[in-house]
Formats: sequence, structure tokens, C-alpha cells
Amino acid sequence: MNEALLSALKKREEASHYRTLKLSSGGIDFWSNDYLGFSNLNMEPSSQLSSGSTGSRLISGHDIMHEQVESFIAEFHGAESALLFNSGYLANLGLLSSIGVKGSLFVYDSLCHASILDGMRLSFAQRRKFRHNDMADLEKILQTSEFETIYVITESVFSMDGDIAPLNEIAHLCRMYHAGLIVDEAHALGVFGAQGEGLCANSIEGVEMFARVYTYGKALGFHGAAVLGSESLKHYLINFSRPFIYTTAVSPMDAEMIEKRYQCMMTSEARQQLRYNINYFSLMVSAFNLNEQIQVSQSAIQVLLKGHHALTDISDKLWKMGYLQKAILTPTVNEGEERIRICLHAFNTENDISNLLESIKNLIQE
Ligand SMILES: Cc1ncc(COP(=O)(O)O)c(C=O)c1O
Repeated sequence: MNEALLSALKKREEASHYRTLKLSSGGIDFWSNDYLGFSNLNMEPSSQLSSGSTGSRLISGHDIMHEQVESFIAEFHGAESALLFNSGYLANLGLLSSIGVKGSLFVYDSLCHASILDGMRLSFAQRRKFRHNDMADLEKILQTSEFETIYVITESVFSMDGDIAPLNEIAHLCRMYHAGLIVDEAHALGVFGAQGEGLCANSIEGVEMFARVYTYGKALGFHGAAVLGSESLKHYLINFSRPFIYTTAVSPMDAEMIEKRYQCMMTSEARQQLRYNINYFSLMVSAFNLNEQIQVSQSAIQVLLKGHHALTDISDKLWKMGYLQKAILTPTVNEGEERIRICLHAFNTENDISNLLESIKNLIQE
């Protein structure tokens, strides 16, 4: 390691932002994205399927199972096409880096995920961010931007804040200013909608969207992702999306597993239980008089103690008490916006939730 790299590490340590890998010795899960508890599903793959894809989809890695699963995903979400990627990170990277040609502009919510930022950075497009969920700011940018092609990018549920984008209004502005709409539904899939379809289907029905991204490492408890859009977008990605082309494909076995998990998700009662827990959490926050310290949301992601001076200390103490949660620090979030991110799950009990909140209340008062 050279001096510059070592000094970057040292600076991070000095600022108390040093990242380490931590094994948990067990506890109550308030930190994973496994909202429905599907990571424990034990599903038998069909025996004839390979567990390795052997190459890129463009060489030896393409299988009938990919075609079958992509058709299933597209049909379920009411899109013309779907294309599988190895992860949500790669789906955003592959989509944005390839469509962002010279002369185009990405207008994105300031809280968009790192994979969206990295995808834009790898493109030749210009980018401008609008203030989080601020429609007046978005419109101002759209009004004053003269580009051949404009894309507006948002998440339907924001990964660090758990709040929801005003999709209807964003879609309206996209129509007015002839911009293509791209929505990342990573944290909405499985959580919202009668069958877990996410928020786009219900909020902006009938609106033509440029692309949607669904990821399978969260409520589906697995891994992988898909980009949905028109048939021509799919052909474009197959031709130009480097994170799709230059990598070993999702295996046929994993592709089948994604479809099986969709099937489970569509009828699972875990979603109602999750919804119940989200409401219960919100009620208990009021009951414990924690509304100032906890920003409740309708999604599975809840934000605790944003900007609180004793945040990391409280997080460490909660950890020792067996509550698995995580203090999210800069650079993941902006300075002053550090918080404890809590994820609620279908399998959390009322006791888990109220005990957690009671402990937080006590720790704040200490
Ligand atoms: C909004 C959003 N998009 C994409 C990703 C990346 O998905 P994956 O974990 O499948 O790479 C994440 C994961 O944290 C996310 O929160």
C-alpha cells in the first residue's frame, strides 16, 4: 500500500468513519433487508439445471431458463421486457452507464443510491441533482435544461430514509418536459402492492416509463436484479451494457430461484404481517413519545436519532443488548445526517419492537 492510500485510511479512522466487517453472534434482526424472511426459504432447484452459467450470456452463458424467467418478470410487472443482472448494483451501473450517451442529461434525486451515482459517473451524460423529493426543484431543472434526451431518476422507496417518492408528480413532470422516467424499486418489491409488485404499478399506472430496476437481494431474500423496459431497451442493453456483457451470467439455477421466490412473494401472508409491524412500530413510537427522535415511514425502513450526538454510542449499546442494527455514518450519508437505520420484518414480534423502542428511550435518557 502506498502512502496516499494509507493516509486515506488513517484519515477515515481519525474521523471515526472507519468501516470494518463485523460478525454478529446472533440477536434480533433489525438491520437486514430480508423484509419477508425469505432468505431462509429452502427451495429445491429442478435437478437438471446447472449451478454455473459457464460464461457471458453472449457466449456460453445463455439458457432457456433466462428467457423463461425474464418473460415471467416482465409479465408480472406489466413491462415489455426484462433483463437479468447479477445484482442491483450492476443493474443500475449497466443501465445508466450505457444509456447516458453524449448530449443527454440525468436529473436525479439527491438521495439516490451509490449504484445510481456510479452508473451515471461511468456514462458520458451530464447530471444534475434535485433536492430530495422536491418537485419545484425538479421542475426548475427540467425547465432550464436543454438537452436532446433527459432522464429523471428516483427510487420509489429511499434506501437510507425509507420515505417514498411522489411518483405521480414526477411522472407528470416527465410527461410535461418529455423526460424518460427511471425508478429503482429495490426496497418496494415485496413490500408494497397486493402481490408485492412495488409502487410503480399502483402509483403511476398507464404512464410509460423508460426503465425500472427490481433487485432480488432484499424482500426476495436472494440476489440478482432485473432492468425492465421496452423491447428495444433490452436489445440496447444486450449490445451496450458492459456489466451485462462482460461478466459470467446468472446461473440457470439462480434464475429459476428468482422466479420461485416471485411466486412465493405474490401470495405470501408475510407481507400483511410486515405491514402490521410497520403500523405497530409507528404506534409504539408515539406511545413512547419518541416522535422527535424517530422518523417513521410507511416502508420497512425506519430512521432513528438522525444527527443525534450520542448516535454511535447508543448503537453500540443496542448491539450489546442483542439488537442488530447499524449506525449509518458519513460518507454513506451526508454529515449531520448520520442515523441508526432500522429495518422491520414480517418475523419481528410486537415484543421485539416495543422492547427495542423502550431500550432506545432509556438510552437517550441516560
Ligand atoms: C436503492 C438501491 N438500489 C440498488 C441497490 C443494490 O442492490 P444489490 O444489493 O442487489 O446490489 C441497493 C442496495 O443497497 C439499493 O438500496
